[in-house]
Amino acid sequence: MEILALVGSPRRLGNSELMAKEISRRIPEPHRLKLVRLPEMDIRPCRACYTCLFDEHTCPQADDFPTILEALLQADGLILAVPVYMLAANASLKQFLDRGLSLYGHFEKLWGKPAVAVAIAGIPGMEGYTKLCLDSALRLMGAQPQASEVVYGALPGEVFLNQDNLKTAEKLANALFGPPPEWQGESWRCQACGGDTFRFLGLEQVRCMTCSSPGKVLIKEGQVDFAVDAHEDHFFLTLEGARRHLHWLQGMKGRFLEKKKELKSICLDYLHEGEWLETTRKENKGAPAS
Ligand SMILES: Cc1cc2nc3c(=O)[nH]c(=O)nc-3n(C[C@H](O)[C@H](O)[C@H](O)COP(=O)(O)O)c2cc1C
Repeated sequence: MEILALVGSPRRLGNSELMAKEISRRIPEPHRLKLVRLPEMDIRPCRACYTCLFDEHTCPQADDFPTILEALLQADGLILAVPVYMLAANASLKQFLDRGLSLYGHFEKLWGKPAVAVAIAGIPGMEGYTKLCLDSALRLMGAQPQASEVVYGALPGEVFLNQDNLKTAEKLANALFGPPPEWQGESWRCQACGGDTFRFLGLEQVRCMTCSSPGKVLIKEGQVDFAVDAHEDHFFLTLEGARRHLHWLQGMKGRFLEKKKELKSICLDYLHEGEWLETTRKENKGAPAS
């Protein structure tokens, strides 16, 4: 078996790398560990051209993304280990995920790969929305999130000054190929996806920020209950939903062509507003204002 670890830290032998390797060591099933250090990979920004949604599912950016995609396709299981920067998963994860439309054409093979994720924060309680970043990253990759955790440690290696973090690595390792997680009955979780981050849309209405399912927050016998309507159509939750979402996105091309003139006239009205700062990036220098 092959396990792929996506490591989000630029620090060699930093806490994210150690956590990924420790999880791998403790996975009971024999396997080979492959690692990707995301910040070192050449992952260029999505150009929003939607080319990857059609036919060959190719992307005009020539970079390391296809190498990572190939490794994802080959892997039997995934480990995501990312440091917390500014209350969120660091940008290397988002940089990778922003190319996520390129994954849609491969969902038939990617779907349901077991995955675990860990974030490392330097200060207890200062992880901000990182767990949400991890949980949604795994869903966006079509993976089956088996477990995710946040651990603490600031200096490289510090994560294992605390023996509890070895136990967390063990827990994640055992979860990877273990039974699917059960959250039914845990009323503080989203009953559609197990997510634990909600946005309040008023006094009663909530939305799960991982799978977008709507729900109501109720207090039952003094306990909070997020009564979520499982949003069956949501593409995070089933492969069928993912396929439907891909078809909907592909339909955007037709909708764009239909409304092209109208949209262009809306956009052009803003063409000469304001003054742009100059960039030092060579490839953008002298680019026409558009
Ligand atoms: C730019 C930057 C921002 C950070 N922001 C946070 C933060 O918001 N919350 C936190 O708890 N730790 C923060 N940290 C600390 C790192 O999460 C911590 O050092 C972690 O161990 C880094 O993992 P690594 O060793 O894998 O790089 C930040 C570190 C850096 C370099």
